[in-house]
Amino acid sequence: MFNPSELKGVIFDLDGVLTDTAEFHYQAWQQLADETGLPFDREANEALRGLSRRESLMRILGDRTFSEEAIQSMMDKKNGYYVALIQNITAAELLPGSVALLDELRQAGIKAAIGSGSKNARTIIDKLGIGDRIDAISDGYSVSNSKPAPDVFLHAAGLLGLEPSQCAVVEDAGAGVEAALAAGMWAIGLGPAERVGAAHVVLPSLDGITLTDLTSKLAQAQPG
Ligand code: BG6
Ligand code: MG
Repeated sequence: MFNPSELKGVIFDLDGVLTDTAEFHYQAWQQLADETGLPFDREANEALRGLSRRESLMRILGDRTFSEEAIQSMMDKKNGYYVALIQNITAAELLPGSVALLDELRQAGIKAAIGSGSKNARTIIDKLGIGDRIDAISDGYSVSNSKPAPDVFLHAAGLLGLEPSQCAVVEDAGAGVEAALAAGMWAIGLGPAERVGAAHVVLPSLDGITLTDLTSKLAQAQPG
C-alpha cells in the first residue's frame, strides 16, 4: 500500500512529461527515415517513446542489416536534426502544471529528479530554465541499460539517497512505466491507457495536478 508520508522523491521523465520534445524526436526520425528510404510514420513512432536512440533506430530498421558505421552515421544524423529542433526551446515550452508541481514538491521537502534516457537531457533542462528546481539528473549518459530496464530510475534514486519504495516516477512512455515498476517505484503514467495503463495512476497530463492529487490517487492504487 502507498503511504503518502513515505514519498520522499519524484522522478520525472523529461521528453513528453515536462516538455513536448517527444514531437521533435518524431520529426527528426521522420526526416532520417524519409531521406534513407525507410518506412516510418507517427504510428510507428509511438512504439519508440522512451526508447534509447540506438534502440529506436533498431526498431525502425527492423530486419534490415547495416554496418555499425552506417548505424552510427544514422544516429548522428538523427541527433543533428533533433539538436537543431530543440535550439529554440525556452521556458514557454514547459508543459502545463510541471513548474507548479516542482515548486510544490520543493516546498513539501520532497526531492525532484530527472530520469531520462536522453543524452540531450541536460541541454533541454538548461533551456527550460528548471535546473534550480531539480535535485538530481539521471540521463542517457548515466547508465548503459536503457528503459524498459529500471537502471535510469534506480540511479536517480541513488543520487537522491532514497530507496525505490520512497520514489514515484512520472512517465509518458510504456517502456518508462515498465522501467518504473521494475525499479519497485510508484508509477504515474501520462497519456492514454493503451500506452501507460500499467501505471498505478493514469492521468491525461500534469495540468492542474497537485501533490495531494498524486498522493491521494496513489493511495487508492493497488501495489504491484
Ligand atoms: C527519450 C525519448 O527521452 O530519450 C526517446 O523519449 C529518445 O524518444 C531517447 O530516443 C534518447 O534521446 P537522445 O536525445 O539521447 O537521442
Ligand atoms: Mg518520455
